Amino acid sequence: MKHTDFISLHDYSAKEIGQLFTLAIQIKRAPKRYANALKGKTLAMIFEKQSLRTRVTFETGIYQLGGQGIYLAPADISLRKRESVYDVGKNLERWCDGIMIRTFGHDICTGLAEATSIPVINGLTDLEHPCQALADFLTIREHKRRLKGLKVAFTGDGNNVANSLMQAGAKTGAHVWVASPSGHEPKSEMVELARQDSRASRLGAKIMVTNDPFEAAHDADVVYTDVWASMGQESESESRKKVFWSYQVNSELMAHAKPDALFLHCLPAHRGEEVTDEVIDSPQSVVFDEAENRLHAQKAVMLTLMK
Ligand code: CP
Ligand code: NVA
Repeated sequence: MKHTDFISLHDYSAKEIGQLFTLAIQIKRAPKRYANALKGKTLAMIFEKQSLRTRVTFETGIYQLGGQGIYLAPADISLRKRESVYDVGKNLERWCDGIMIRTFGHDICTGLAEATSIPVINGLTDLEHPCQALADFLTIREHKRRLKGLKVAFTGDGNNVANSLMQAGAKTGAHVWVASPSGHEPKSEMVELARQDSRASRLGAKIMVTNDPFEAAHDADVVYTDVWASMGQESESESRKKVFWSYQVNSELMAHAKPDALFLHCLPAHRGEEVTDEVIDSPQSVVFDEAENRLHAQKAVMLTLMK
């Protein structure tokens, strides 16, 4: 696989995503076999937003591969204020073997990748969250033993997570339905990109957008949701509650999905808002398997790019 960066699932072919799943499963089964795979290598981890899972899984992951993560908190480097993205990239390539970045604009992530010669991994931008979707589809595959032909229903904000899930579906043959309130649907360019990906992969995934959460959830194999106000939208959180209320994943919505449907959430969850306790704590919920798989999926990405 000849890739320098991991910025979007769109950049990876269906076959390459399959290879990442295979590697992630091997790493998960026999982590000790990879204990020295990235010995002595360092990953700079730039965070412009908060994180639990992304930070801990990247830092633990690189450590388990024999390397070291360097956490750069928002205030540490003050990206774009203290120093330009270009200059940060040009410095880091002199010392480190890879960069993971969590930031706002997607162009900051792509700009960093253009500036630097070392691999750049997207740990979430306003537009995409590819590491999340990779771990999510790995989790679905483990539980359902297949991806092609499954129906994945995302209800809520047509945000970064929804965008990456559409791409993951397109590349693996799973139909992705996104149900969002009017004005909060995924950007039409992202829907079109996923549909192009689906045509290119020839796996037959339908990428559908609706305003009706029940239509999306109908006969679904997977029901997925995310917070209604993403990081950076905190000031809108009260007004969004009113708009998104009917998109809550509760027992009534789950009853429209298949009886053995899985419930997924990228986390953090706002319990009682986008999902009820009853659903997130039910046997159908695999949210902590998903969180665990962030570790294995990202180790596969680091190994592929940084070896
Ligand atoms: N799902 C996810 O990316 O979690 P964090 O924001 O805690 O990293
Ligand atoms: N959409 C959320 C995902 C958090 C992992 C956000 O961007 O805040």
